[in-house]
Amino acid sequence: MKTFVSFIIFVMVVVGLLYAISGQRSPQIPNDETHKGITEPVVCLNCHGPEKEYARKPAHPPKDECLKCHRVKRKKK
Ligand code: HEC
Ligand code: HEC
Repeated sequence: MKTFVSFIIFVMVVVGLLYAISGQRSPQIPNDETHKGITEPVVCLNCHGPEKEYARKPAHPPKDECLKCHRVKRKKK
C-alpha cells in the first residue's frame, strides 16, 4: 500500500514538472542562419550574454539552459 501511494505521488510530481516547463511562454528561436544547429548555450551567450550586442532583458529568467525554454521555430512549408 505504501509503495502504491509513493508511486502516485511520484507520478504527480513528474506531471507537475512537465506542466511547469511547458507553461513557459518563451519566444521561439528564429530558424535562420545565425541560429541553425546550435546545441550549446555557451554559443548563445556569445551574442545574447550580458554586455553583448543582443543581450537579453534584465528581467529574463536567470537560468542559462536556453534550449529548455526556447525551441527552434519550425520552418513553414
Ligand atoms: C551570432 C549571434 C547569435 C547567436 C550565436 C545566437 N543568437 Fe539569438 N539572435 C541573434 C540575433 C541577431 C537575433 C535577432 C535580434 C532581434 O531581432 O532583435 C536573435 C534573436 C533571438 C531570439 C528571438 C528574440 C525575440 O524577441 O523573439 C531568441 C529567442 C534567441 N535569439 C535565442 C537564441 C538562443 C537560445 C541561442 C543559442 C541556441 C541563440 N539565440 C544564439 C543573434 C544570435
Ligand atoms: C527558464 C526559461 C528560460 C531559459 C532557461 C532561457 N530563456 Fe530566454 N526567455 C524566456 C522567456 C519567458 C522570455 C520572454 C521574456 C519577456 O518577454 O519578458 C525569454 C526571452 C528571450 C529573448 C528575447 C529578448 C528578451 O530579453 O526578452 C532572448 C534573445 C532569449 N530569451 C535568449 C535566451 C538565451 C540565449 C538563453 C540561454 C543563455 C535563454 N534565453 C534561456 C525563458 C527562458
